[in-house]
Amino acid sequence: MRIAVPAENPSLETRVAATPDTVKRFTALGANVVVQSGAGLSSGILDADYEAAGASIAPDRAATVADADIVLKVRRPDGEELGGLKAGALFVATMDPYGHEDALKAMADAGVCAFAMELMPRITRAQVMDVLSSQANLAGYRAVIDGAGEYGRALPMMMTPAGTVPAAKIFIMGVGVAGLQAIATARRLGAIVTATDVRPATKEQVESLGAKFVAVEDDEFKQAETAGGYAKEMSAAYRAKQAELVASHIAKQDIVITTALIPGRPAPKLITAAMVQSMKPGSVIVDLAVERGGNCELAKAGETVVSDNGVKIVGHLNVPGRLAATASSLYAKNLYAFVETLIDKKEKTLAVNWDDELVKATLLTKDGAIVHPNFQPKA
Ligand code: NAI
Repeated sequence: MRIAVPAENPSLETRVAATPDTVKRFTALGANVVVQSGAGLSSGILDADYEAAGASIAPDRAATVADADIVLKVRRPDGEELGGLKAGALFVATMDPYGHEDALKAMADAGVCAFAMELMPRITRAQVMDVLSSQANLAGYRAVIDGAGEYGRALPMMMTPAGTVPAAKIFIMGVGVAGLQAIATARRLGAIVTATDVRPATKEQVESLGAKFVAVEDDEFKQAETAGGYAKEMSAAYRAKQAELVASHIAKQDIVITTALIPGRPAPKLITAAMVQSMKPGSVIVDLAVERGGNCELAKAGETVVSDNGVKIVGHLNVPGRLAATASSLYAKNLYAFVETLIDKKEKTLAVNWDDELVKATLLTKDGAIVHPNFQPKA
């Protein structure tokens, strides 16, 4: 059983799909792990570290994936990366499948069994495989660090002989996994933290972290959570009430971190250009939803924009990749926990149970076809 870890495209990705720790674990299961030379460098992992854990190092991509039964990556393979793979090989990565049907077809045509880690069901058994949570948690932390870095003032209150520095006010919009970590991080740094969400369950979570909850709590709010635990898209009437509340609150904030997402939809627009205008010069907005269209009207993907009234709007791409070493270690563990279930530990061979609910939920392509129900061609 051969497991390949090719290098990511360095212009898009700093993370890597395996660490010396997961290499050691895979090796213990009887796998031969092959890592492409340099694959771990931007996560602080040298070829020699992988070798010491039991991997062999291949000089290029072709030699890495040749004859591999399982390929582990952070990002979906592009066309070129699908060449040279064994038919029936398992390709496990975050596939960003929505709206990328062409890429799914290319993976089907290449004959690989492509697994999308982000489609893992959020059930207890799969918590250890939940890449969305492991990476969003780090993104929430990093967003506060990035916001603090751009902010030209201190965050905690300081009483010094030269005068008192007031605590910064930080407002977190969207309190899922990223937002909760952002609240905890902002509190640790000494800021005065408020937060908002449309799901009522978040109120208690926000308060238990020592922050104040700010939201329009009407009848629609009481029903805003889907059975799956996600937010619904809110009505125009709710959005108007929310905007009014946010407008008066945001004008007093120093740093705003936005994380609001709705599955399968563009990110909700929560901060208008007029709200940015109402903020003080030097304030900072960090928009974590920028890859899905952004929560702030003025955010630009991959850029830090400064508005004409001096508000910085930070739109970093791949925020977990800004903590590459930590993000890789958690992502690699998530992959290991899933891939381990596809291996017969006694026989030391691949043994995929195609009826397992985790396999069915994540498998996109198999035997030359797109098999996932969410991505069937429209009749
Ligand atoms: P997400 O990334 O889809 O969205 C982030 C947040 O934005 C959510 O809290 C959402 O309610 C909020 N939001 C959406 N529209 C908004 C609006 N108009 N205004 C303000 N906020 C808005 O969410 P994430 O982080 O994936 O978490 C979703 C749910 O999944 C949560 O209930 C979380 O506790 C749950 N979860 C469950 C896990 C498990 O059971 N294994 C693991 C991780 C999360």
